[in-house]
Amino acid sequence: MTNKDFLSIKDFFPSDILYLLILARQIKAHPLSYCDALKRETLAMIFEKPSLRTRVSFDVGIQQLGGFSLYLSPAEINLGKRESVYDVAKNLERMVQGIMIRTFAHETAEQMAQYACIPVINGLTDYCHPCQAMADYLTMWEAKGNLEGLKVAFVGDGNNVAHSLMFAGAQLGAHVWVATPEDHQPSAEAFEWAHARSTETGGSCNLTYDPRMAVEGADVVYTDVWTSMGQEEDAQRREEEFRPYQVNMPLFRHAKPDAIFLHCLPARRGKEVTDEVIDSPHSLVFQQAENRLHAQKAIMLDLMKSEFVKLPTLMELREMGHP
Ligand code: CP
Ligand code: NVA
Repeated sequence: MTNKDFLSIKDFFPSDILYLLILARQIKAHPLSYCDALKRETLAMIFEKPSLRTRVSFDVGIQQLGGFSLYLSPAEINLGKRESVYDVAKNLERMVQGIMIRTFAHETAEQMAQYACIPVINGLTDYCHPCQAMADYLTMWEAKGNLEGLKVAFVGDGNNVAHSLMFAGAQLGAHVWVATPEDHQPSAEAFEWAHARSTETGGSCNLTYDPRMAVEGADVVYTDVWTSMGQEEDAQRREEEFRPYQVNMPLFRHAKPDAIFLHCLPARRGKEVTDEVIDSPHSLVFQQAENRLHAQKAIMLDLMKSEFVKLPTLMELREMGHP
């Protein structure tokens, strides 16, 4: 890949996204082959919001590649207040080999990437969650054996997770349907990008207010919390608006009989999804969470490796038997 950073799925060619997914499959199958690839490299992890999966998977992932991580809490850095994004970038690039950032405004992550000469990886912004989408499609690929032509239904809020699901689906030729209340659709810009890219890859991006229309015949049913981090003041109102968008068994049954259920987690059980669905044999949410680790190892490897580490090419990976 030619990009220095991993900020949004939109920033890549379809072949880049496919390559990273295949590399993730290879790393998952042969983790020891890569255990020294980022030897003694350090990843600084800037968190302005809470996390379980992102923190643990990046921390464990870099260690499994031979490196170290450094957790920087909101209280410590106080990004943009105690110190400017520019100054933080200029300090960190002198001491570490990569930055993972979870923040509010997507522009903050973009500025960090612009100012730092080292790779910057987006661990979630209000706009998108690209590492999540990599794990999501890795899970779909494992479960379904292919990605092109899959019907992927997202039901709930047209948020950061929905945006990245649309972007990656467009890159990989999936048919993504997003069902939201009228006032909570994905951004028009995100939809237009996904729609345009889909026409090149044979997929499609579709918006509706009708959860049943989205789920009808779907291979994958996906939901996320109704109140994202930073929106807590609005939680009560949002709960009322989103109630018809709960993923419960009566809704899920409109999907294909072998459909899978995904959720980026954390889940508010009994709100956006019922126990009956998330605990059913259709649910792959913990495999999906584990896949954050493998997908992000592929991303870190690709972006942070030194010139002495050679990764297999797409052709070589295919020769190794990857589809
Ligand atoms: N899915 C996800 O990003 O989880 P965390 O917020 O716990 O990192
Ligand atoms: N949409 C959620 C995702 C959490 C992983 C949020 O932004 O809080």
